[in-house]
Amino acid sequence: MKIPAPIAMLAELTHRCPLSCPYCSNPIEMARQDSELDTQTWARVFDEAARLGVLQLHLSGGEPASRRDLIDLVSAARKAGLYTNLITSGIGLTERRLGDLDKAGLDHIQLSLQGTTPEMADEIGGYKGGYARKMQVAQWIGEIGFPLTLNAVLHRRNLHQLPRAIEMAQEMGARRIEVATVQFHGWALKNRDGLMPTREQAQTASRIVAEARAALKGQLVIDYVPADYHDDFPKRCMGGWGTTGLNVTPDGQVLPCHAAQTIPHLKFDRVHEKSLDDIWYNGSAFNAYRGTDWMQEPCKSCDRRLVDFGGCRCQAMALVGDASATDPVCVKSPHHGALQAQADTHASQTDAQLIYRVSPIQKVEPTS
Ligand code: SF4
Ligand code: FES
Repeated sequence: MKIPAPIAMLAELTHRCPLSCPYCSNPIEMARQDSELDTQTWARVFDEAARLGVLQLHLSGGEPASRRDLIDLVSAARKAGLYTNLITSGIGLTERRLGDLDKAGLDHIQLSLQGTTPEMADEIGGYKGGYARKMQVAQWIGEIGFPLTLNAVLHRRNLHQLPRAIEMAQEMGARRIEVATVQFHGWALKNRDGLMPTREQAQTASRIVAEARAALKGQLVIDYVPADYHDDFPKRCMGGWGTTGLNVTPDGQVLPCHAAQTIPHLKFDRVHEKSLDDIWYNGSAFNAYRGTDWMQEPCKSCDRRLVDFGGCRCQAMALVGDASATDPVCVKSPHHGALQAQADTHASQTDAQLIYRVSPIQKVEPTS
């Protein structure tokens, strides 16, 4: 198999975050602040990424604004020739800091939305006043003129707010909204009882998205990640393992996908030890599930195997205990029926309390 160069890199600058969303897909054990890569190392990694063929750099976290050197990191990425996208909750961004990011060459911002009302957003984010702060940041983003995508994560508690989220994206002047039904990785797995949408909600969301896409054609792009536990075919996770993108964790481990550390037998190379090029082409974790040779039946002989590459490896690991198994979302998986029943059971737990991560840092003061 000819290995293509990656198009995108997700740089998880830090796991620190002022919010503590119960759907957080970061690992349960987060990287400590004193293990985070320093500015110079990130700059070298950005250079290596550009030479490898990466075009888009997504600066993420945790909350990337928690890094005091964020402006320098954006400058370094632009110097390397990368298109830079900041994925943020907005907390920790001031008007002045946004202006400095603009001067440093930041190309695009993705702003997360935990809910369309202060009550919902602050409850889900676990951060009082977060919604008001976010609305202020959205206004500054518009005034500066950054291209904006609104990222709405939807689940059983806030799916009814989907129409308003789409309206808000238009009001903010966003070019795109990403409507992602909660995916259960990392911390989120603990909250399936509290967040799993019902089958009816999942169907309603798909209808609302289809109608809005037709009505807003040419005005707003709507990317949509459906509720896959209720689906019959899995998503093509990461565009196929080791084909389009890579993630670098705060402490410099290079992963084929955001949740790959949940697959216990994989060994991850670090940017301190090897070049990104060597890791991408020769790293054992990247080659573990490339192509189709690793597949078992029913994927091995399935005519969709190059369409979805058997679904999500991390989901197969989490739900079936075998990362090379067919993603149980697939109707051909022997575990599909049990998963659908399990999804309905989770969705019926209307009294379930949300389980919040006890974050070491509850509040990030804006850096002026
Ligand atoms: Fe995809 Fe495997 Fe299901 Fe076929 S059997 S549709 S390849 S997950
Ligand atoms: Fe890891 Fe899907 S999240 S392969």
